Parts: sequence; structure tokens; C-alpha cells
Amino acid sequence: MEKGWYILGEEVKLFEKEFAGYHQERFAVGVGNGLDALILSLKCCGFKYGDEVIVPSNTYIATILAIIHCDLVPVLVEPDHKTYNINPKAISAAITDKTVAIMVVHLYGLCCEMDPILNIAEKHQLKLIEDCAQAHGSKYKDQLAGTFGDFGAFSFYPTKNLGALGDGGAVICKNEAHYQKLLQLRNYGSSKKYHNDIIGYNSRLDELQASFLRIKLPHLDAINTHKRKLADIYNKNLDAQFIKPALDEDFYHVYHIYNILHPKRDQLKQYLLDHNIYTEIHYPVAPHDQLALKGYLKTYTYPIAQHIHQTTLSLPCSFAHTEDQINTVCEILNKFN
Ligand SMILES: Cc1ncc(COP(=O)(O)O)c(C=O)c1O
Repeated sequence: MEKGWYILGEEVKLFEKEFAGYHQERFAVGVGNGLDALILSLKCCGFKYGDEVIVPSNTYIATILAIIHCDLVPVLVEPDHKTYNINPKAISAAITDKTVAIMVVHLYGLCCEMDPILNIAEKHQLKLIEDCAQAHGSKYKDQLAGTFGDFGAFSFYPTKNLGALGDGGAVICKNEAHYQKLLQLRNYGSSKKYHNDIIGYNSRLDELQASFLRIKLPHLDAINTHKRKLADIYNKNLDAQFIKPALDEDFYHVYHIYNILHPKRDQLKQYLLDHNIYTEIHYPVAPHDQLALKGYLKTYTYPIAQHIHQTTLSLPCSFAHTEDQINTVCEILNKFN
């Protein structure tokens, strides 16, 4: 505030350098929010009206909205019922001659199974965009989410593992031409003040958010370690009536959300509330059931997504929670019947 420079200044530049550095990636561009990070990534690719983009059927609606805002067709494919992430076999089955990109979502903080997805993208020459809004610091085979594809799109919404004090987002990428285009797109299509070369947006990470994120970024790994410690308590102590997140040593889960599945989800939520334990549902309505998407999808039957949305419950698992608190939640949960 003393500098009097609020938009596109030194703090944003330094945060971009540090965020790219964290990922050992060449470029990062700060943008207004996670939805814009996805939209601007798609806009960089020069797709044409009606091209198809593959996306998981159980994602948060933002991923699908980004595709629609770019006049592209979202093709929803079902997740794997154990990881809740996009099923590579379902991707192959959904490819048509109009498919131009795969938009994977590392949901709940678990990285997708990237080896087969990278093979499919390469074989069919598809662009690969990673929605990393829930996956800061998450890894697959020791590689960070966001560094596999052409673009890694991040949200810094305050509740994220790397959260700002308001809205914020960023795109990381490898290709210099993509980087230059992202810089233009976020700032009215301009690379020189008042000279507008392409139809751009106003989507900039502001200086105050960038300076806050610069303080927080060095703590991201500690935040993730803490959340993993809490998740471990659930994993070890919750009894068999609860379906817990999949564990596999190839995946470094950062538990943006720790969710369980339970057939009596709504009663369970109320039971926990009666014990003063607040939970969330990510998400109560599947994308294909959202009013907004009527008329935009090829089909409206997604049984795996439906099942997840009907049975999922997100348990307390934030940096603010203590191990003692999570042990108490486990004790109370195990008494549910
Ligand atoms: C999977 C996913 N993608 C995209 C977004 C959009 O991020 P933002 O709210 O910053 O626009 C979110 C936000 O919650 C999300 O969970």
C-alpha cells in the first residue's frame, strides 16, 4: 500500500517467478481466479467453435463452465469409482474427430493417473490442461500436479491449500508463445499499454493477493504435511462402514478435501452436526443435474458421478484442525449406526 501500486507490479512478477520455481516450470501467469485460469488456458489454444473437450463428470462446475464460455463442447466422462478422478479408459472411449483437448481435474487433492492420460493425449495430439484448483503440491510419481500438461490452472480461493485473502488464480506453462498470449489475454489483449492486439479479458492477480501468496507459498509443503497427518488419522481409525480415499504409493495426496462415502450420508451429516462437527458435501448436485447445463451435454446419464454425489461427505481436515480434534471426530464417527 505504501508503494501505491496495486495492479500488475513487482509483487505479481515475483510471485509468478516463485510459483513457477516451486513447480520447476518456466512460466507462471497470475490471473483473477481459477475459472479464468481455465478459460485463458483454453483461449490460448485457438480452438474453433464446436470443438470437443473431455472433462470428468464429477468435477466442480467451474471446469465445465470454462469450456462452455470458450464456445467449446464439454464431453463428460465418468471417473474411476475408487480414485474419483477421470478414468483413462473412459477418455479413450470418448474421443471423436472433434476432440481437441483433455481437461483433467486433480479432484480433492489427488493427482490423476497421468501416464496413460499423457499417452492418450500424445497419440491423438490433444492439448492437455490440468485443473489444479484442488491440488497445490499434489504429486504423481514424484511429479507435481500442473507440470504434466500444456497448462496447469490454479485457484487461490481462500479455502484452497494455497489460498489468498480473496480471489486469485494462476496458470503455469512450458511454452513461451503460450506464456506471451496468457500475458496479453489477462490484460485486455495488450502487451503494450493502450495497444490491444487480441480480444482479451480483465483478469489479473492483484498486488495485495500476490504479496500475501508470496508469504504463504514457502509454507505450502508444511500445510500439506499437516493435512496428510490428519488424513492418516482418519485412514487408520475409521471403521469399515466408511469408504475412504484410495491409497497408492504413486500418488502424493494433499487432501484439499478428505471425503468418505457412506450410503446414509445425509443422516451421517446430521449426526455429526448434532455433535457439533461441521461437514461439507463436494458436491451435493452432479454437473449433469445442474439447471445451468441443460442443453449443453451430449447425454445426462452418469451413474458413477451420481453415486459419488449422493454418498460423499467431506470431513474436517484443515490446517487449523489439531490431531486431537480429528481423533475425536473418528471416535464419534465410529459410533454411528
Ligand atoms: C476443481 C475446481 N476447478 C475450478 C475452480 C474455480 O476456482 P475459482 O473459484 O478460483 O474460480 C474450483 C473452485 O473451487 C474448483 O474446485
